[in-house]
Amino acid sequence: MSNPRILAIETSCDETAAAIVEGGKTLLSNVVASQIEIHKRFGGVVPEVASRHHVENMTAVIEETMSSAHVTYEDLDAIAVTEGPGLVGALLVGVNTAKALAYAHQRPLLPVHHIAGHIHAADLIADIKYPAMALVVSGGHTSLIYMPERGEYEVIGETRDDAVGEAYDKVARTLKLPYPGGPEIDRLAANGEVTIDFPRAWLEADSYDFSFSGLKSSVLNYIHNANQRKEEVIQENVAASFQASVVDVLVERAQRAVSAYQAQQLIVTGGVAANHALREAMGKTFPNDGDVELVIPPLSLCTDNAAMIGAAAQVVWEKDVRAGYDLNGQPGLAI
Ligand code: KG4
Ligand code: ZN
Repeated sequence: MSNPRILAIETSCDETAAAIVEGGKTLLSNVVASQIEIHKRFGGVVPEVASRHHVENMTAVIEETMSSAHVTYEDLDAIAVTEGPGLVGALLVGVNTAKALAYAHQRPLLPVHHIAGHIHAADLIADIKYPAMALVVSGGHTSLIYMPERGEYEVIGETRDDAVGEAYDKVARTLKLPYPGGPEIDRLAANGEVTIDFPRAWLEADSYDFSFSGLKSSVLNYIHNANQRKEEVIQENVAASFQASVVDVLVERAQRAVSAYQAQQLIVTGGVAANHALREAMGKTFPNDGDVELVIPPLSLCTDNAAMIGAAAQVVWEKDVRAGYDLNGQPGLAI
């Protein structure tokens, strides 16, 4: 069967999500229960709290997904779940739910890598052309992944310290903005000017790696020093200047990787791909009238969701990979 109907489950961080995807391309339903409002109180995701809320929400999220797609378990061909990476307690809720459903309804169990999920969100809006390059930018990851063909992932660069979303969240926290900080900085930056020359970590000339901790510290120092001198901190300008530094590095790396690997497409995905400045800069660099096609999923498919897990599960299905009932959550799983 080439077009299996798959129920996909995602619980790697703070979104309890379930979706039904057919043939890796057709989205029948997509439900996300966000815990953002809960974690806001703590200024970040508290793992134990996340696990507890996954347990509380999981069944309702799956029921809503099934009913809005008008399907029953009889209509499903497989159950897919994010195996890792992520928070172990959070992953386990999804993994155990998927195992129970696979066993109860005697359906194959498909293990999915969270980052493959972010990448294959692109399948839901376009046909990926290989060789392809993916820039995955989220709260936990900043990676350049080369895909010579479907189902093959080669990490050519990644962050050596903070993930880009993490840097956004930490800078936002210093500016006393609520969690998650990315959207807040994005919003402020739109009304700011680039007035501060924050550093860009270019690293070695041939490297595709990233480093954001120096930039983060530089922003924190700037704010600290201004506060000490009782100088006004114009939040909008700090946000715009920080963002300009991030975007410059991401665009340069993507551009160099795409040309070195002769990629036909660049996929930009993950929570930070929701960023307006990044989308705009990528759009200007890859105008879609040149050799390289730019694919950026819509915002709802960039941040964590299960639709992307259903799309990536299609690749797992095609490769004939099936998990046993001993499947476990793998917090540090490599792609
Ligand atoms: O992919 P995601 O939902 O979860 C992970 O797998 O990490 O990404 C969440 C990250 C957070 O750090 C959040 O601040 C960031 O994505 N983010 C943004 C924007 N929207 C979400 N960063 C910058 N600009 C945005 N508009
Ligand atoms: Zn993610």
